[in-house]
Amino acid sequence: ARHLALIPAAGVGARMGGQIPKQYMMLAGQPMLQHALQTFATHARIAHTFVVVSAEDGWIDTLMTPALQARVSILRVGGPTRQDSVFNGLNAMRAEAGDADWVLVHDAARPGLDAALIDRLLDALEGDEVGGLLALPVVDTLKRSDAQCPARSLETVPRAGLWAAQTPQMFPYALLQRALHQAQQQGRLGEITDDASAIEMLGLRPRLVEGSPRNLKVTLAQDAALAEFFLKGPHA
Ligand code: CTP
Ligand code: MG
Repeated sequence: ARHLALIPAAGVGARMGGQIPKQYMMLAGQPMLQHALQTFATHARIAHTFVVVSAEDGWIDTLMTPALQARVSILRVGGPTRQDSVFNGLNAMRAEAGDADWVLVHDAARPGLDAALIDRLLDALEGDEVGGLLALPVVDTLKRSDAQCPARSLETVPRAGLWAAQTPQMFPYALLQRALHQAQQQGRLGEITDDASAIEMLGLRPRLVEGSPRNLKVTLAQDAALAEFFLKGPHA
């Protein structure tokens, strides 16, 4: 089975609050999305990369260097939520994917992914039947509030066994397609924010593989500076 990358990049970056969608903001010398595209396109174990953008996206073509053009297909099928974009992307790549091919779904907003992290995920899932994701053990002390009293802590949530999910999240094509299809049928697509949740809804247990702080998601404006710090330095 081959390894295929699928990058949802059809968001608007509302929380970032910039003039253009965050995936096209310049970061360490190139548009944010280009970092992940290049990492996948130059990785020997990734057979092909698919990127999902919105139908009216006017930026993606400017990123396609000749080297990327040969290794990346653009799917203009972005939907209203991340999971819609992933589901639409899976369906659009149907003709080029075998049921048993692995799909690595990766946020365009995680420019710090590197080849070694991809290798770590692939190695950990060698022979696995379910799949899994990069994630980091939670280090913060966690507090729970409630809607009635959102600014007061009700209790401390034990962090043992809690992980913060990253991407890539990697599953066999047919399994992920079925999981998202079922979530959509059950009207639950809206309640999930990553691909592993859809797999969990099938009763399966995705493997947790240690990610890295450098693979942070750029969500707020201040995240961009930290992402740039990691991208510019030799920080592991
Ligand atoms: N994404 C997508 N289609 C959507 C929404 C998000 O493909 N309808 C992608 C984003 O482009 C991003 C990834 O999913 O690469 C993670 O989403 P997020 O960080 O939430 O990005 P945005 O949705 O763009 O940001 P915001 O939620 O602040 O608007
Ligand atoms: Mg979003």
